[in-house]
Amino acid sequence: MQISSLLKPRIFLLIVTIGAELCFGRRLPKPVLLIHGLTAGANSMAYVAARIKQHNPETTIYITDAYSYAASLAPLQQQLDGDIGRQFRRISKAHPEGFHVIGHSQGALLARTLIQSYINHTVHNCIFMAGILDGEYGTPAFVKPLLPLGEFPPTLEFISTLFYTPPAQSSLSAANFWHDPFQPTKYLKENTFLPYYNNEILTDKSYSYRQAIIKLKKIVCIFGPDDAVAIPWQTGDFSFYDYYGRMRNCTERPIYDAIGLRVLDEQGRFKRYIHPGVEHAQFVFDDEVISRYVLPHLD
Ligand SMILES: *[C@@H]1O[C@H](CO)[C@@H](O)[C@H](O)[C@H]1NC(C)=O
Ligand SMILES: *[C@@H]1O[C@H](CO)[C@@H](O)[C@H](O)[C@H]1NC(C)=O
Repeated sequence: MQISSLLKPRIFLLIVTIGAELCFGRRLPKPVLLIHGLTAGANSMAYVAARIKQHNPETTIYITDAYSYAASLAPLQQQLDGDIGRQFRRISKAHPEGFHVIGHSQGALLARTLIQSYINHTVHNCIFMAGILDGEYGTPAFVKPLLPLGEFPPTLEFISTLFYTPPAQSSLSAANFWHDPFQPTKYLKENTFLPYYNNEILTDKSYSYRQAIIKLKKIVCIFGPDDAVAIPWQTGDFSFYDYYGRMRNCTERPIYDAIGLRVLDEQGRFKRYIHPGVEHAQFVFDDEVISRYVLPHLD
């Protein structure tokens, strides 16, 4: 009696599963979560969503509209703790079979840190489009209106002075991903976000930040030299300047081991695609980029 009542629910589940497989003839595509970039909203991801639907109409697509437009400037930890984090955890719980995430620009950094901060995530593939993955050190147009000097191009040193302060860190996402390679001590001391998720400052969370990355099936980085907003553009695959201002491939950077990228890379699970001729905002509207590098990784 006891054994059969224990078995019953399992047999029922088995039948349902087989039934579903037979009905559809194949597995349903994994759901996809799309995360917009800085100063953008859900509609910046609508074209990618449309292309995914066209490619596979059965795909469930979630596009977050949390922290859109001006609200996207909110400090990143606040965004992780807020609606965007709640949505991410809810989707993880709703899809134990797995889902994919696509993040653009700041949305790529949000995607990676959402994953890192939730060890129970069920993300399979994470696709970063023109991602600001190891931060930014340059002044694209979007930074200029935020600065008190108005039209005068501020020096990068001046921006560091401004951004590496508690008020900037607690109010502005761009300050959280500001990564000054020439002032490593100040960066580690004053940046309250990036050094932690890079495992450059170790805490009791560092281990799970790394495990959560290793748990992914695949990381896909799509980026290119004509980006002009992500500076340096190589931050799109975790490459960045060293202390002497020399560009270093991510494989030569501490982050490669610190957050588990090497583990993925050695198993062929860390894909990088450099695509020239596409500007930052256009990555999510470019047919060639989407069909060559995004759709094939939604398996
Ligand atoms: C993750 O899942 C495990 C096992 O179900 C559970 O014990 C743990 O509390 C969960 N952690 C979080 C952060 O939800
Ligand atoms: C870093 O090196 C890898 C392997 O050679 C390459 O695929 C990747 O594109 C390089 N990244 C940059 C930014 O050059």
